[in-house]
Amino acid sequence: MKKTTAAALAPLILLGLPITDAFAQEAPAARDEVATATDTDTDTVENDEDIPPALTTYKGREIAQTMHWLGAEWLLRQEREREEATTVLMRELQLKPGMVVCDMGSGNGYHSLKMAEAVGDTGKVYAVDIQPEMLRLLKARARAAELTNIETIENKLHDPMLPENTFDLILLVDVYHEFSHPEQMLQGMLKGLKKDGILALVEFRLEDPDVPIKLLHKMSKEQILKEYLPNGYKLVREFDELPWQHLMFFGRADSTENETKPVTEQVDPKSSPKPELQEPLPSTSGQQ
Ligand SMILES: C[S@@+](CC[C@H](N)C(=O)[O-])C[C@H]1O[C@@H](n2cnc3c(N)ncnc32)[C@H](O)[C@@H]1O
Repeated sequence: MKKTTAAALAPLILLGLPITDAFAQEAPAARDEVATATDTDTDTVENDEDIPPALTTYKGREIAQTMHWLGAEWLLRQEREREEATTVLMRELQLKPGMVVCDMGSGNGYHSLKMAEAVGDTGKVYAVDIQPEMLRLLKARARAAELTNIETIENKLHDPMLPENTFDLILLVDVYHEFSHPEQMLQGMLKGLKKDGILALVEFRLEDPDVPIKLLHKMSKEQILKEYLPNGYKLVREFDELPWQHLMFFGRADSTENETKPVTEQVDPKSSPKPELQEPLPSTSGQQ
């Protein structure tokens, strides 16, 4: 497989050429296989190693390509607080000192570091990502911030590789829609949760045409519930006040938390979608 390094990009940057365009042809592929089998619920692509076939669709939703680590700087952009109200998100997670939490699909740790401060020295954050480069960037940031309560896990596409019955909270921000093996990941995370542990899911709102994000990187509440409820989760809380994203809290089906009904937004079929945000994110397969 052809590799593209940051050094190889330097001339493009000097020439002022957009990295995204460069990567459209050259990005290393985590999932560059050819689509093969199909059925109504799940299209698949072939994988190497011992990883089961990756899906290209799940329950009618097209799965997005994984964001490449060379775009990691974008995750730290200043506008993120305004666009995603990440301080409000942290407040809504209700983190407390001593909690054991997971930042699933942590990237370079934008949320992991904030979580580490909130759970303190008596708590612990597991930052989990399939890309070792993301975890290296995260560790460097944690070192610079003198945070010592973050452990990293390089997991597999189909396995979160979490210790069982351990987590008070698992956070997924802008990650779930990229899972090539959603059912295996959902099951693995379910096992990782304590009985009354919470999975907090953050996804850009598909229902809202004003959210300037590519459609493949958005999800509707209806679709989220279609995927989570049959996989052993129940909806226990929602927070609908983030500027662009859903924030939905799921518990294990056997938890003592009460199930709640989602507040649904009506999609206005006449409203025209706004121009999509040009995410400067090369995907690992070079496709968006
Ligand atoms: C768009 S980034 C978001 C990163 C971070 N959550 C944030 O909000 O800054 C998505 C991340 O999910 C990771 N990812 C994709 N599939 C994954 C999987 N099956 N398990 C763990 N991480 C995964 C990617 O490697 C990438 O770092």
